[in-house]
Amino acid sequence: MDALAINIDRLEQRLADLAAIGAIEGTEGCARLALTDEDKQGRDLVITQMRDLGLTVTIDGIGNVIATMSGQTDGPPVMTGSHIDTVRTGGRYDGNLGVLAGLEVIEVVKSSGLVPKRPIAVGFFTDEEGARFAPDMLGSLVYVGGMPLEEALEIRAIDGATVGEELVRIGYRGSAPLPGPSPHAFVELHIEQGPVLEAEGVTIGAVTGVQGISWTEVTVTGQSNHAGTTPMHLRKDPGFVAAACAQFVRELVLKIGPPQVGTVGRVEFRPNLVNVVPASASFTVDLRNTDEAVLAEAEQQFRAFLEAAASGEGCTAETRELARFEPVEFDPDVVSLVETMAKELGHSVMRLPSGAGHDAQMMARLCPTAMVFTQSRDGISHNPLEYTSPADLEAGANVLLHTILALANS
Ligand code: GLV
Ligand code: MN
Ligand code: MN
Repeated sequence: MDALAINIDRLEQRLADLAAIGAIEGTEGCARLALTDEDKQGRDLVITQMRDLGLTVTIDGIGNVIATMSGQTDGPPVMTGSHIDTVRTGGRYDGNLGVLAGLEVIEVVKSSGLVPKRPIAVGFFTDEEGARFAPDMLGSLVYVGGMPLEEALEIRAIDGATVGEELVRIGYRGSAPLPGPSPHAFVELHIEQGPVLEAEGVTIGAVTGVQGISWTEVTVTGQSNHAGTTPMHLRKDPGFVAAACAQFVRELVLKIGPPQVGTVGRVEFRPNLVNVVPASASFTVDLRNTDEAVLAEAEQQFRAFLEAAASGEGCTAETRELARFEPVEFDPDVVSLVETMAKELGHSVMRLPSGAGHDAQMMARLCPTAMVFTQSRDGISHNPLEYTSPADLEAGANVLLHTILALANS
């Protein structure tokens, strides 16, 4: 096998430098919600590194940033990348690894003097997390033409600002055209964010696809009243309906069985006071499955329960779809290539689907796409405790390097 290898110390330093922006005190994690000041600082840092490598940097209308290294020919690049926004309780690896390892790959290729046949590009997409602006994978969705730019710019954050306003405010409303150009292929390195690789004692995951994602925001409205004077049988309590729904989601996914999962992740009562029956309760439901039909059935059963629970309590319920993406299968040839490269580098490898959403699932609409996974300690992610060992980071980045080289020279 080719002797080219990534420099793990440099990659770890890049991860540490980016994690210092929005660092959550007393932890290794960081908070860089999309299009916040912290996200801007993270973007500025990564773009400086891209320019230091002599790459051509473009920024499009939704703030996606793509840096390209020329090849021997001018055709579409082999592209890698991920995202650098995080959830509010993020780790330093989710997304960031895919972007910074992409930079590392390019640095290694450049300093070897090798000029690949095709250009190589590394990018980061806006608002992959969807934690501030739903849906998730927003930047890559717009990149592939899955949502018109004008619609995306109007999306409102959980704190009230719009995507368009925030892009302008942080100086990242670029002019590169959307939908974006199709790469020759797309490969994303990411931590698994789940327990499978660690449990199996396997170093590398060759990701076969991404499960379907359904996000719904529910608002239940009732009658706000005095907590001491209102007899139980006269209450119209949206808080009770929300709690019953959370209980139902758990029961429903257990009844359906794996790989179905379901989460009530955000709950807000109004006015949220100890002695007031709430006027309204809003909460989110995240349902995921690799099987589209089963996922659709789970959504249907949840809606039926919500209606019955709300009317049983004398409340009304409204729902708003925040995200809905069908399961995605990656390109079999690129998945095989990842597997082959991992084996040639002497790593154990297994195929697995992704439980988390990724920009690669959008890019798969444009070009042959796959992903490389590395282990996540204790399967923990979306938590500052997220951790992947240097040995695993190095293994994953080297598989990325050689997969990209093989595609770029094919
Ligand atoms: C987004 O990354 C998600 O999987 O929630
Ligand atoms: Mn991610
Ligand atoms: Mn994430």
